[in-house]
Amino acid sequence: FRALRWAWRLTWLSAIGLTGAVAYSIFDLRQPPDQSPPDPSKKTLVILGTGWGSVSLLKKLDTENYNVIVVSPRNYFLFTPLLPSCTTGLIEHRSIMEPIRNILRHKKASVQFYEAEATKIDYEKRVVYISDDSEIKGDISHTEVPFDMLVIGVGAENATFGIPGVRENSCFLKEVGDAQNIRKRIMDCIETACFKDQTEEEVKRLLHMVVVGGGPTGVEFAGELQDFFNDDLKKWIPEIKDNFHVTLVEALPNVLPMFSKQLIEYTESTFKEEEISIRTKTMVKKVTDKYIQAEVTKPDGSKELETIPYGLLVWATGNAIRSVVRDLMSQIPAQAESRRGLAVNEYLVVNGTENVWAVGDCAIANYAPTAQVAGQEGAFLGRLFNIMAKTEALEKELEALSERQAQAKGDEDRNQIFDEIRERQKQLRRSKQIGPFQYSHQGSLAYIGKERAVADISWLSGNIASGGTMTYLFWRSAYLSMCFSTRNRVLVCVDWVKARLFGRDVSRE
Ligand code: FAD
Ligand code: NAI
Repeated sequence: FRALRWAWRLTWLSAIGLTGAVAYSIFDLRQPPDQSPPDPSKKTLVILGTGWGSVSLLKKLDTENYNVIVVSPRNYFLFTPLLPSCTTGLIEHRSIMEPIRNILRHKKASVQFYEAEATKIDYEKRVVYISDDSEIKGDISHTEVPFDMLVIGVGAENATFGIPGVRENSCFLKEVGDAQNIRKRIMDCIETACFKDQTEEEVKRLLHMVVVGGGPTGVEFAGELQDFFNDDLKKWIPEIKDNFHVTLVEALPNVLPMFSKQLIEYTESTFKEEEISIRTKTMVKKVTDKYIQAEVTKPDGSKELETIPYGLLVWATGNAIRSVVRDLMSQIPAQAESRRGLAVNEYLVVNGTENVWAVGDCAIANYAPTAQVAGQEGAFLGRLFNIMAKTEALEKELEALSERQAQAKGDEDRNQIFDEIRERQKQLRRSKQIGPFQYSHQGSLAYIGKERAVADISWLSGNIASGGTMTYLFWRSAYLSMCFSTRNRVLVCVDWVKARLFGRDVSRE
């Protein structure tokens, strides 16, 4: 009975503690302290992008050390791992966006933000040309930003491999606008299929949802879409239940190639249960507004062209280099051999340059293009820049001390300065001891639908592969804890509860 009483007390204490922590973080978010103004006499550090790499850097960076300028066409950070859930309305897109202004307003010294696209980086002149490509433009919408130090974190664009018709006819899944577009088009296909006197063949086509690319983006989207159908669509619009169908098309022999064999098999069997068709060894060659043409490799190795009609086509075949990055690569001879992005050294310095770094999907450092890698790279650069500033300050102090020592009159004075110099030299040696960037892989996680997820988690020096409902709960809690802010976490939880109670919203806008 006593133990029960203690357990009860402990529960209360933790509830009070948790409420206090949430209340404090909300208070802290709403009441940022005053900032010191940017100091143009300091080195100008220009950061391109507001994605995983750049924002992790900004989080760690002591902005008092530099004159920091951020340029990005997106004035928010996007938590991409939950983006597939936005395509069906399970999560509202604003729940996974964090305004960059909120992030910057919490830095010690203020940071200049320009909502613009970097159109060209002139390495020789050390300037970035920027352009305001938003709807509303002022008298000036193109200008240049000079830099002393530059961090490129512009991510990547969607790969289409030059396949005809892809850009014109398919939806991508990279940005908030893409998720909104998919959500609208799912409902448009359904309502059009329900149009009076629609032919049976056309109904089948319109309700055929095709996803190209069996990487994690394609798999997660296919899982979310089938959930939407099973949980909500077939209840509210029963007339579509016999014809709604999701197909995942993949050129390789299996989906999720980065996961272990048993998880690939688990994903494939779950998809079978969910009635999602997987078409492996099927490479799309051409896309029109109503069908895709794919080359299918038969079990005997022969190849056959097949036409697959679709209503909605989501294209998720990985990353390609952005034009601003390709242009910079063409200016640097050391990048001539690089094909997939900016080749960087172990300190993330762009090979062949000085004071230019690259992070995330636009950098090639022998790691997969994931948020995990981009986040760790950004945090590494944040620490590196803080140390560089400290080192520079120590070096200046040492110079001043040496001058004082040369001018000192008495032995006592000289000895005191000598001690100070030794102390600063020790500090300098310590601060210079930053090792190269080392990626620590925490594991791979993916949602596969039907409240199941797969996870390859690094544990001690081994690997744990798991799939199922418990892994799904782990997936949810891991991503919830990784959301950018308390505000994001609360909004995502509210969305999950809302969808559980009332279902997803099936209105088109
Ligand atoms: P991004 O996060 O893409 O950010 C790039 C930034 O640069 C953006 O702010 C963009 O607006 C800006 N920008 C673009 N062009 C310019 C320009 N010309 N000038 C200035 N700024 C520019 N990874 C995981 O590890 N786990 C996951 O679960 C996961 N899920 C994902 C789900 C989806 C649907 C997608 C698409 C990706 C997912 N990823 C995941 C991969 C992960 O999102 C990327 O690897 C990560 O976003 C890369 O970070 P980044 O900073 O390089 O680029
Ligand atoms: P991806 O590069 O991982 O997969 C693309 C797939 O498309 C490949 O399997 C490829 O064989 C296939 N493909 C290419 N061309 C094709 C064609 N013409 N026809 C048919 N199939 C074709 O791309 P994805 O999924 O967009 O992911 C990009 C990056 O983001 C990856 O590094 C991934 O790890 C990361 N990511 C991680 C997630 C997670 O950890 N849960 C979720 C989403 C993305």
